[in-house]
Amino acid sequence: KRVAILISGRGSNMVSLIEAARAPDYPAEIVLVLANRPDAAGLTRAQAAGIPARAIDHKGFADRASFDAALQAELEGAGIELIVLAGFMRILTDAFVEAWAGRMINIHPSLLPLFKGTHTHARALEAGMRLHGCTVHYVVPELDAGPIVAQAAVPVLPGDDAETLAARVIVQEHRLYPAALALIAGGGAALDGGRVRLAEAER
Ligand code: GRF
Repeated sequence: KRVAILISGRGSNMVSLIEAARAPDYPAEIVLVLANRPDAAGLTRAQAAGIPARAIDHKGFADRASFDAALQAELEGAGIELIVLAGFMRILTDAFVEAWAGRMINIHPSLLPLFKGTHTHARALEAGMRLHGCTVHYVVPELDAGPIVAQAAVPVLPGDDAETLAARVIVQEHRLYPAALALIAGGGAALDGGRVRLAEAER
């Protein structure tokens, strides 16, 4: 499967996906990295890894629909089959999300459906959680609400602050996301009537 990764920032999940996809038997090929911010540090990291990477600056567009149209043109031009959001901090239009239904995934730094949105680590601490983690899910128009593909949990430890907790979670993100993408790209999981269907061998 031909995959595009969309980023807005440092791109550490992107790097872990690029590295995993180097394995000869990995079922997906990362062929394009796009950022909505020209200053996204991940762009240089992608280029250093030999992946075509460029910014489509959302500030250059009058509205979300015209930005998404530019994105769509770029993705179509590269023959993309699957979109992987990795720290992509821009809301996509419902039309774009629906056009990619079942073919676009995201990673979120909490155990969904808990703590949708931002500042998840601080909110998990505030709630007194003893477990926290990350979730890979299909993207649907409602934010962070799509069908769950995979999750990983970490303990919340005494003395944690948002930073130490985030550091523990991101280690799991870097492991979980390449595994979840392989599952989907290899046909081990698919979206079926709004639910994730696992292939026999993955149950
Ligand atoms: C990750 O924690 C991801 O779960 C969240 O944004 C962060 C992106 O980090 N959506 P990076 O850009 O992959 O390093």
